[in-house]
Amino acid sequence: MTTAKKYLVTGGAGYVGGTVAARLLERGDRVTVLDDLSTGFREGVPAGAEFVEGRVQDAARWLDGSYDGVLHFAAYSQVGESVARPEKYWENNVGGTMALLAAMRAAGVRKLVFSSTAATYGEPATVPITEAAATAPTSPYGASKLAVDHMITGECAAHGLAAASLRYFNVAGAHGGLGERHDPESHLIPLVLQVALGRREAISVYGDDYPTPDGTCVRDYIHVADLAEAHLLALDAMTRGDVPAGEHLVCNLGNGNGFSVREVIETVRKVTGHPIPEIAAERRPGDPAVLVASADTARERLGWIPSRPDLADVVADAWAFARHRHQEEGA
Ligand SMILES: NC(=O)c1ccc[n+]([C@@H]2O[C@H](COP(=O)([O-])OP(=O)(O)OC[C@H]3O[C@@H](n4cnc5c(N)ncnc54)[C@H](O)[C@@H]3O)[C@@H](O)[C@H]2O)c1
Repeated sequence: MTTAKKYLVTGGAGYVGGTVAARLLERGDRVTVLDDLSTGFREGVPAGAEFVEGRVQDAARWLDGSYDGVLHFAAYSQVGESVARPEKYWENNVGGTMALLAAMRAAGVRKLVFSSTAATYGEPATVPITEAAATAPTSPYGASKLAVDHMITGECAAHGLAAASLRYFNVAGAHGGLGERHDPESHLIPLVLQVALGRREAISVYGDDYPTPDGTCVRDYIHVADLAEAHLLALDAMTRGDVPAGEHLVCNLGNGNGFSVREVIETVRKVTGHPIPEIAAERRPGDPAVLVASADTARERLGWIPSRPDLADVVADAWAFARHRHQEEGA
């Protein structure tokens, strides 16, 4: 039994941050969401959270010693945009985190969970990918997240922060009425579901000549509710002292199972009953053939065990959310 805590959740109007904030509230913690609504939505902030509309760059205005920790989701995360406008990513992802770390230091808030990404690894030499794999990001987005990971390592060593960087693989699904809502959408499952809803005519398959069983890219899809659980476990590990001041724990979060683009499309066909036409398209530069996580560290250090590894469950939850939104918009 843990006592209720108070957390600042940056980016809590977004997909993952909103879901984690909802889970914290469900277990009785207090939550303040700090979000500038640049890619998030006011209605994505879960009921019961205090909402502050503002930038992480100005976190010092709101953060004080009453907080037990910070969960930092706020970032830009479009790989293609980061190639076209790298400066936007350095300013927000790196500059924003630098300001946040300074505000935490000044306020004496010494626990941090950070949303890192599989994109820090780039093209892996071996799969499944462990945290010991070389980090060679293939986009400014991945590079900006890796830079933040390095920044956090230094902050832990020099200033006694306890931190966990959770490197998500492909997050999907929905939980408690909150789901994936990016604009533009770049993630496969919500894009295929747009076809099932009649909002898009067909799904583009970027490359079918990769060295994989069916030639399409293989990814590791993790249910957002399982992902959220890992954040709660990371906070608890810090509270117990299992991740002590000075340690920067880095954990991959994935199921350890890969599904190809074609397998995802086929699963959506089964779940929705829609034929989902495909269009063959050119490979996208920088898309690795296979990205599958080893989540052994998360299991060993946090006791994290994904409870919804079945792709059909992930797709079914994403489909329920997508249909609900579609009806709400009266489309
Ligand atoms: N969704 C995925 O599959 C995935 C995979 C790996 C890593 N991540 C990381 O997880 C985090 C959350 O991703 P998401 O899919 O929920 O994205 P999202 O765009 O839905 O959420 C990000 C939120 O941060 C807010 N934000 C951005 N910059 C801000 C700033 N400077 N100040 C205040 N608020 C700001 C946005 O308005 C938005 O609400 C990101 O850091 C992303 O890089 C996501």
